[in-house]
Amino acid sequence: MSSHSREQTPEFTQLVEKSLSRRRFLGGAAALSAAAFFTVSPLSRAVAAATQSSPLMGFEPVAASTEDAFIVPKGYKAERLISWGDTLFGSVPEFSDSDNNAQAQAGQFGDNNDGMSFFAIDDNNAILAVNNEYCNYEIMFPHQGDNMSAEDVKYAQAAHGVSVLTLKKEDGRWQLVKDGKYNRRIDANTPMAISGPASGHALLKTAADAKGEQALGTFNNCANGMTPWGTYLTCEENFHGYFGHTGNGEIPAAMARYGISAEGGRWQWHQHDARFDLAENPNEPNRFGWIVEIDPHNPESMPVKRTALGRFKHENAELVVADSGHLVVYMGDDERGEHLYRFVSKGKYNPDDMAANRNLLDEGTLYVAKFHEGEGGELKGKGEWLELSFGKNGLTPENGFASQAEVLIHARLAATQVGGTTMDRPEWVAAHPSEPVVFCTLTNNKNRGIKDNQPVDGPNPRAENHYGQIVRWRPENGQHTAAGFDWDLFVLAGNPTVHQGNLYAGSANITADNMFNSPDGIGFDKGGRLWIQTDGNYSNSGDFAGQGNNQMLCADPDTGEIRRFLTGPVACEITGLAFTPDQRTLFVGVQHPGEKLAKSHFPFGGNRTPRSSVMVITREDGGVIGA
Ligand code: FEO
Ligand code: CA
Ligand code: CA
Repeated sequence: MSSHSREQTPEFTQLVEKSLSRRRFLGGAAALSAAAFFTVSPLSRAVAAATQSSPLMGFEPVAASTEDAFIVPKGYKAERLISWGDTLFGSVPEFSDSDNNAQAQAGQFGDNNDGMSFFAIDDNNAILAVNNEYCNYEIMFPHQGDNMSAEDVKYAQAAHGVSVLTLKKEDGRWQLVKDGKYNRRIDANTPMAISGPASGHALLKTAADAKGEQALGTFNNCANGMTPWGTYLTCEENFHGYFGHTGNGEIPAAMARYGISAEGGRWQWHQHDARFDLAENPNEPNRFGWIVEIDPHNPESMPVKRTALGRFKHENAELVVADSGHLVVYMGDDERGEHLYRFVSKGKYNPDDMAANRNLLDEGTLYVAKFHEGEGGELKGKGEWLELSFGKNGLTPENGFASQAEVLIHARLAATQVGGTTMDRPEWVAAHPSEPVVFCTLTNNKNRGIKDNQPVDGPNPRAENHYGQIVRWRPENGQHTAAGFDWDLFVLAGNPTVHQGNLYAGSANITADNMFNSPDGIGFDKGGRLWIQTDGNYSNSGDFAGQGNNQMLCADPDTGEIRRFLTGPVACEITGLAFTPDQRTLFVGVQHPGEKLAKSHFPFGGNRTPRSSVMVITREDGGVIGA
C-alpha cells in the first residue's frame, strides 16, 4: 500500500545471506579463539552489519530503563493523547480515582488500550479506533476483584471493547475532540451481526438469539487490522476466562481446547450475568474468538463478526492485497503451541468501488502454516499452507467435522487435524510495505521442548523459550496466495550478558545495548522500518537482567540492526502503534502500567491511579519518525 520504491529498499536476498544457523550457535563458537570467531564466523558478518549505521534509522537509541516514565529519543517528544476513563462526551463525567462506575465508563475511553488504527479524513481531521483489551481488577476495585458484584461486572464489561475517537490537529498536535462526530464506545454488550459460513449454525444459537445471527459485544480485543476500504478489524483474543459453569457441569472437549473451564477465570462474569454461565447458555462461548469488522466512519453501523476468518485467540489481522487482487489476511493464535493462519478471499479487491469490498471477508479459504525443519539444523527452511476446508485434509464427519461452519468454529481442532505446526505463541504479523516478505512475533513459550506436541524444531528452536523470536517468510514466487514459502528467523531475542555461546544469548543482532524479551506488537511504516513492541518480563533481573521495562524498538529488515526507540513506565506493556500518513506522528499504547499493584502512577504522577494511555510521539523538528 506504499509507493515506496524498490530502489530505496534493499533486496530480500541480502537477508537470506545473513540468516542464522543453529550450528553457529551450538557448534564451534566456543572452540574458536575470540579473534578467529570475530573474523571468520557468520556471526562476525552479522555483527558488522548490525553496528553499521542503518540508512533507515536516524535516531539515537535510548537506554534500558526501570523508571516510571515514557522515554523517547533525544529530539523527540511524547505527549498523552488519552487515558483510561477520559470522557468522550461532555455529558459524561471524567474518570474518578475513587468512584468510577459502569454508567460513566460507558462513555469514557476503555481500559488497557491495545491495537489501534488511524483513519485520516483530511490533513487535520481523523479517526483513531483503539482496542480496549481488558481491565485490572486490582487497580479498578478497592476489593481488587475479590468481592465482585453485578454492578462491578457491568463496570468491567463497559471498560472492555473498542473506543472510536474523533481527532483534530490543532497547533500542530493531534488531540481528542470531545463530542466529536465519530466518538463511540463499543463494549461487551454492543449488538453485532455474525456473518460468513458459521452464521446461523446450531452451535451459535442461544436462548436470546434463536437464529444464531446476532451476538452481544466483543471483549479481550487484542490487536487489530485495517482494511483498504476504510474499516477497522478488532481481534478477540483470550475470551475463555469470561465464561464458567455455575453447576460445575462437563465442558465439551471442543471448548476445553480454548481453555474454557467450569470454574471460569478471574473475571467472574458468569456468576453475575447469566449470558456467561454455561449452565444457562452453553453456546455463548462459540460466539467469541472471532475477528470483528467495524466501520469507524459510521457510529450507527453495526459491527460484524466475520466467521470465515476462523475462531481462535486472535492477535492481529495483517491484510495484503495480493498481485492477483485477492485479499490475504495473516493471523496469529496467541497461545503456547497454537498456530499461524492465512485467509485468502474468494473475491477480488476492487480499488474503484469501496462498497463492493464490504463482504470480501465473508467468503474465502482458511489455511494453517506448516514449517518444515531446516536442513542440517539451519534456522531456515521451507513451509506450506495447509487448507482448512470441509471435506479436505481429513476435515470430514469421521473426524468430527460436519460442515465448514464446524471447521471454522473449531479452527484449532481443524489445524491439529491437518498437521499445522505448533508455534511459540504467534502474536502480531506484519507484511513489508513493498517487498513480498512477512514477519511474525513468536513471543515466548515455556512449554517448548516440554510438552509432547511442542518439540524443539524449525522456527521454534529453543526449549523453555522465555525470550521469543521473530520468524520471517517469503511467499513462493513473491505471491501471497502461493501454497509455499521460505522461512528464516529475523531475530532470536536473548541476553548476551547472561548467556554465551548458545541460542539463549540471542542472534547476532542482539547486543547488551538493544536486548529485550517477548516481542509482541510489530508493524512496518511506509519507509520499511520494522517497529517491535514488547510484552515481557520486566523484572530486570536473572535471565532478564539489563533489559528493563517493556519497550519499543526499530529494526532495519535489511541490515538486521535493531535499536531501542522508547521505554515504558513500571509494569506496563507497550502495545499498539499507528502512524499518520505523513509519518510525522506516531501513536503508541502504554498498557496496564502498575499491574499487580506494582508501583506506578503513570501518567499523572503523585499518588494517582496508574492508567493505560495512548501517547503521541513527534519530532521536535517535525521530521519523519525513526528517520
Ligand atoms: Fe493480547 Fe497476545 O496479546
Ligand atoms: Ca499482544
Ligand atoms: Ca501479549
